[in-house]
Amino acid sequence: MKTFDITPLTPAEALEALDTAVGLVRQNLSLFTDRCQNHSSVNDIYPPCDNVQWTCGFWPGEIWLAYERTGDGAFKDAALKLVDSFLYRIQNKIEVDHHDMGFLYSLSCVSAYKLTGSEKARKAALLAADQLCTRFQEKGGFIQAWGPLGAADNYRYIIDCLLNVPLLYWASDESGDGRYADLAHRHVATCLANSIRPDGSTYHTFFMDPVTGAPVRGVTCQGYKDDSCWARGQAWGVYGTAISYTYTRRPEYLDAFRRVLTYYLDQLPANLIPYWDMTFTTGDDEPWDSSSASIVACGLLEAAKFVSAEEADTFRTLAGQMLSSVASLCAVKEGPAGIGLVRHGTYSKKSPYNTCTQEGVDECVSWGDYFYMEALTRYTRDWKPYW
Ligand code: GLY
Repeated sequence: MKTFDITPLTPAEALEALDTAVGLVRQNLSLFTDRCQNHSSVNDIYPPCDNVQWTCGFWPGEIWLAYERTGDGAFKDAALKLVDSFLYRIQNKIEVDHHDMGFLYSLSCVSAYKLTGSEKARKAALLAADQLCTRFQEKGGFIQAWGPLGAADNYRYIIDCLLNVPLLYWASDESGDGRYADLAHRHVATCLANSIRPDGSTYHTFFMDPVTGAPVRGVTCQGYKDDSCWARGQAWGVYGTAISYTYTRRPEYLDAFRRVLTYYLDQLPANLIPYWDMTFTTGDDEPWDSSSASIVACGLLEAAKFVSAEEADTFRTLAGQMLSSVASLCAVKEGPAGIGLVRHGTYSKKSPYNTCTQEGVDECVSWGDYFYMEALTRYTRDWKPYW
C-alpha cells in the first residue's frame, strides 16, 4: 500500500482541531436552527435554506457531534428543534423522492434517537427508511437514485447510496422487520458487483436494464468523464464498503474496501487532498475536493476495527495523515457568521463530458464539514456511529 511523507495528527492536535470546529458550529448555531444550511458556501459563507435539499442532515450531524464533545445543552436543544423540521419533512413528503434518506435521517434523527431517546426522531427515521424502500427496484435489485420510479432514463443507482443504506440496517434492528436489511443487502451486492472496475476505480452511476434487470453501463454525472474516477465517488466507495462490512461481515466487502482504497491512494497527490476527479494529478490547475479526504479518513477508521493490529495501524496512520493535511491546508480557524469549517471542497464541476450543473466549486461543502468532525471524533475516541 502506498505510503506518504506526512506526520499524522497527534490525538492532542486532533482534539484542538475538533474544538475549533465545535467553536464555529457554536458561532453559527442561531443562524441555522430555524433555517437549514445550504449545500455549499459562497466565498466560504453558507446561505441559509429551507429543509428541502439532500444535504440538510449534515449540519444537524455536526451539532450532535458538538454536543457529544461538549455536553452543552444549547447544542442538544438546537438539534432537537431540527428533529421537528425533519419529522415534518418526511410526514409531508417534502423533496423526498430520491434516495438520500440516509444522508438526511441517519445524521439528523438516528443520531438524536441514539443520543437522547427522542421518540419523534425514531419515528421520523423509520418513516424515512420506509420512503427509501419505495425506491427499491426488483428488476436489477437496487435502489433507484433519482427521478420518477422506473423511468428508463433514470433506471440506475449511484455509488453514493452506500451511505444511505445504513438507515435500512438501523431500521431492521430497531423495528425487528428484516425487510429493510434484506433490501440493503441486495442493493449493496448489486452495487459492488458492477460499480468497481478491475483496477479498483469506480463508476459514479450505473444503469440497469428495466426489462431484464441486467447491468448495462457505468456513466458519470459529477465526475470528469464516464471512464475517469470522480474523487468523491471513490471516497463514498471507501467508506461505503467499510460500513457494508460492519453490517454484513462479508469478507468480500473488506476485499472491495482494500481495492477501492488502493486505487484512491495510488492517485493521490503528495498532500493527500484529491483533485475533484482522480484523472487530475499534481500540478493540474483544477480544484480539490477536501471532503473526499475526510470521508476516506472515516472509512479507514471504521475498517481499522476489523483488521489485524498491523493493518489497523496502517489505516490509522493514513487517516491521521489525511486529517493533518485537511487541518493544515483547508480547515477554517475563524470567520464571520455563516463561515464553513473546511475550505476547498467541490460539489459539482461541469466538464465537457459530464451531466451535472456546476455548483460549489472550491467552496466549503456541508458534508465536508460534517465528515471532518466525524473523522476527528473517530480519531480521538471510540465513537458510536450515527450510521
Ligand atoms: N451525493 C452527492 C455528492 O456527493 O455530491
